[in-house]
Amino acid sequence: MHITILSSSTRLNRASHRVALALEYAINRQGIHTAEVLDLAEYRFPLMEEVLHRHPNPPDGLTDFAEKVRSSDAHIFVSPEYNGSYTSALKNAVDYLKEGEFARKTIGVASVTTGMLGGIRAALAMQQLVLGISGFPIPQMLTVGNVLQRFGEEGTLLEPAFEKNIAAFLKNFFWLAEAVAEKKEALMTVDGRR
Ligand SMILES: Cc1cc2nc3c(=O)[nH]c(=O)nc-3n(C[C@H](O)[C@H](O)[C@H](O)COP(=O)(O)O)c2cc1C
Repeated sequence: MHITILSSSTRLNRASHRVALALEYAINRQGIHTAEVLDLAEYRFPLMEEVLHRHPNPPDGLTDFAEKVRSSDAHIFVSPEYNGSYTSALKNAVDYLKEGEFARKTIGVASVTTGMLGGIRAALAMQQLVLGISGFPIPQMLTVGNVLQRFGEEGTLLEPAFEKNIAAFLKNFFWLAEAVAEKKEALMTVDGRR
């Protein structure tokens, strides 16, 4: 399976991107599935004026972004908590895609704060978003408080004990993602539909 990780902070000197990089590394290191970060700070999408499939002149990178989302099997949304929710950049990017790019896919959520609480409100709000785009949320969330103490700039884990939180999150994520993938394979075999 190929997993795309949406890194949702576009802030200068952002910290939550570290967690996106750490998850990408952890998945690729397992050697079973592949992962790729889609960085919303790099894409720099303007505020959504029209959804992609009706857009007369799609913003740079949007078609490529949509194709990467469409062709991957499952997703992880990583966002800091901003005023009790996830970032507007994440909502903006997701709102562009209305052609079912996320539907029937497992989507895990990870929230990040520099404070100790870890952004549970952002994580819960992301789970609601996942339902809104017909994805399958997993019950477990990865909440990362004290991100600057736990992760280096390139996503290196600075607090070894936190490894078990990442491992548990990924175990639960892949439990559902693999089950959904198996179901889709079975449907393909029977009647060519997913
Ligand atoms: C606009 C804004 C709103 C924030 N709101 C919250 C919040 O509701 N809860 C919280 O714990 N931290 C909040 N913070 C602190 C962030 O957790 C912290 O700045 C974090 O590093 C932001 O992630 P980023 O660096 O990836 O952008 C907020 C920060 C910003 C910039």
